[in-house]
Amino acid sequence: MPEYSPSADRKTVVVGKAICRLVAVAPWAWPLVGSSVGRFFDHAAAGWDERTSAGSAGHLATLAAGLDSLQSKPERVLDLGCGTGAGTLFLSREFPTASIRGLDLSESMIRQAQGKIGLDPEGRVNFRVGDASGLPFSDDSFDLVTQVNLPIFFREIARVLRPGGGLVIASSHGDQTPFSTPESLVFRKLASRGFGSIGSGTAGEGTWISARLEEQS
Ligand SMILES: C[S@@+](CC[C@H](N)C(=O)[O-])C[C@H]1O[C@@H](n2cnc3c(N)ncnc32)[C@H](O)[C@@H]1O
Repeated sequence: MPEYSPSADRKTVVVGKAICRLVAVAPWAWPLVGSSVGRFFDHAAAGWDERTSAGSAGHLATLAAGLDSLQSKPERVLDLGCGTGAGTLFLSREFPTASIRGLDLSESMIRQAQGKIGLDPEGRVNFRVGDASGLPFSDDSFDLVTQVNLPIFFREIARVLRPGGGLVIASSHGDQTPFSTPESLVFRKLASRGFGSIGSGTAGEGTWISARLEEQS
């Protein structure tokens, strides 16, 4: 697979988006591509922040705008595909009393993220290796799930979110983001998994979608 960068070449965008579309409509196919995706990001981890400007205002603008739309005060937050942890650490600053978990397929990414945890005596922020297609958390564990630039596993997100919990899906370069899913497909899948209050918008060069898992009546 070609190397990712925010100004990715056409082939990278086409391959990444094809994987995201496949996973959205046929999540059972993930094992066919998951290990190549993991290897790809393991190789991409060195120098990731410098190459992609991860953690810059531009990179975080879509996540921030999606959070604004939800107006949540979560206690337990999960950041999927956290990469080197830029978004996860932003969440920990936004929600200074919440417990924040960052999860990523790539060990190299997680190693870098762990290196960024400063003084955290209460162990509020934690990074771990894991696969978003089969999350190592029990049902209803979180009241906010976020993800920036990776395939979406709708069923797992709905399983680990508490009813009423919020979701933000951010694509930092809109539909030119290599790992992004078409908005119309995301809307359909969210509705079919019990999400409501679905909103979307643009911020900087990117786009965001937010939603809430509906309470059962
Ligand atoms: C394009 S990077 C984005 C990283 C980070 N969110 C950022 O914005 O800098 C996508 C990340 O998602 C991770 N990823 C892809 N598929 C995943 C999966 N099924 N489970 C967990 N992480 C995954 C990759 O390892 C990679 O670190």
